[in-house]
Amino acid sequence: MSFPEGFLWGAATASYQIEGAVAEDGRKPSIWDTFSHTPAAIASGDTGDVACDHYHRYREDVAIMAELGLTAYRFSISWPRVVPDGSGAVNEAGLDFYSRLVDELLAHGIAPVATLYHWDLPQRLQDAGGWLTRDTSARFADYTAVVAQRLGDRISTFTTLNEPWCSAFLGHASGEHAPGIKDNAAALTAAHHLLLAHGLSAGVLRAELPPSAQVSITLNPALLRPASESLADRDACRRAEVLSNRIFVDPLVNGRYPAELITDTADRTDWSFVADGDLATIQAKLDFIGVNYYQPTTVGANPADPAAPVLLPGASDMFVHPQPPPHTGMGWGIDPSGLRELLVRTAVDFPGTSLVITENGSAFEDSLDEAGEYHDAQRAQYLRDHVAAAHRAIEAGVDLRGYFAWSLLDNFEWAWGYAQRFGVVHVDFQSQQRRLKHSAHVYRSIIAANGAS
Ligand code: FCB
Repeated sequence: MSFPEGFLWGAATASYQIEGAVAEDGRKPSIWDTFSHTPAAIASGDTGDVACDHYHRYREDVAIMAELGLTAYRFSISWPRVVPDGSGAVNEAGLDFYSRLVDELLAHGIAPVATLYHWDLPQRLQDAGGWLTRDTSARFADYTAVVAQRLGDRISTFTTLNEPWCSAFLGHASGEHAPGIKDNAAALTAAHHLLLAHGLSAGVLRAELPPSAQVSITLNPALLRPASESLADRDACRRAEVLSNRIFVDPLVNGRYPAELITDTADRTDWSFVADGDLATIQAKLDFIGVNYYQPTTVGANPADPAAPVLLPGASDMFVHPQPPPHTGMGWGIDPSGLRELLVRTAVDFPGTSLVITENGSAFEDSLDEAGEYHDAQRAQYLRDHVAAAHRAIEAGVDLRGYFAWSLLDNFEWAWGYAQRFGVVHVDFQSQQRRLKHSAHVYRSIIAANGAS
């Protein structure tokens, strides 16, 4: 099993999940600072105030990446560290941090892959309406220009947004993510403004960066399977496909929202927030699509059973059924075949565009074994099986350019706080000591052999 030459082997993180230093050097609050300090929003009341203290320990963390043999590192830039109020004054000290990080990566031969938005919207913009107002999209374009002008000489790969589905639907429909709004119609408005922000930002990146720069967006396309072959379940699955996937894929690829989406959501919105020209902006040329995959999703019609499992955010008439075992610590199903299937399908959705797996990984409870090692056999197995599935997608003809493990470090797992550990590197959140788990050693050998294990 050998991957194409130049295949990127990386690990991914996100600013709010690892940096800490939330009030340092001019950074101001993001919606995640506000949300994590809201009583009962996060399991056990955890916050990202300190997280992995990466802001101060980035050199040690880059040394760990080098030890693993990573050829690329996907991180996100914190908008409120760079433009603390979301618009207006630029915080040079914040930009300096990312400049130092990028220099450190380059000195170790690791390619920086920067995401401009991994959910930490400046709180000041939220106060002005957040993703429910068009203005936020324009402010995102301004912030993009600031970053591109200062770091574009050394970062050649940019991702505009991470998982806009989560920002829109978990942030505005189920409310389990910041800003914690529970309004199905709001999720659709937010989705459009996120897409508009992406399109404007992609345009700015093209204008500011050399032609060789790579511009992308990361999606978490749902790999949907109907709960049964019944008509009702298959129809629920079709509607979920429209609301989870086509809502992003169609405007990005074809510059239009699918007619079914407008019909299916007619009881919630008239889509009057879409202005002339928006869809042409959104349909910006992309060099690759980032795909995040964790597990498949099984969808069925509302069984009208009060004990039924979780609602699909934004659509109360569909249910997401639990996955069969085996499960990760999050209760997520383990199904590597789903990764291959998703890549093949996404390649069809985005003809002529390469793909990169920008996140894939698993949370498990880790404990020290007798030899004093975090012998996370399940995480190592998950990694091997999903890398193998990625290879099978390449064999099936998918133009896949890289694999990024989620995550480099155990970190602040959003609504779950520190209760879920996704890292191949263990973090002791008291002492901030980092320790390679068994899975990190396994990943190092996979990378060294370019896939062969
Ligand atoms: C994804 C997020 C990432 C991480 C993983 C587990 O949805 O992009 O930040 O939390 O899930």
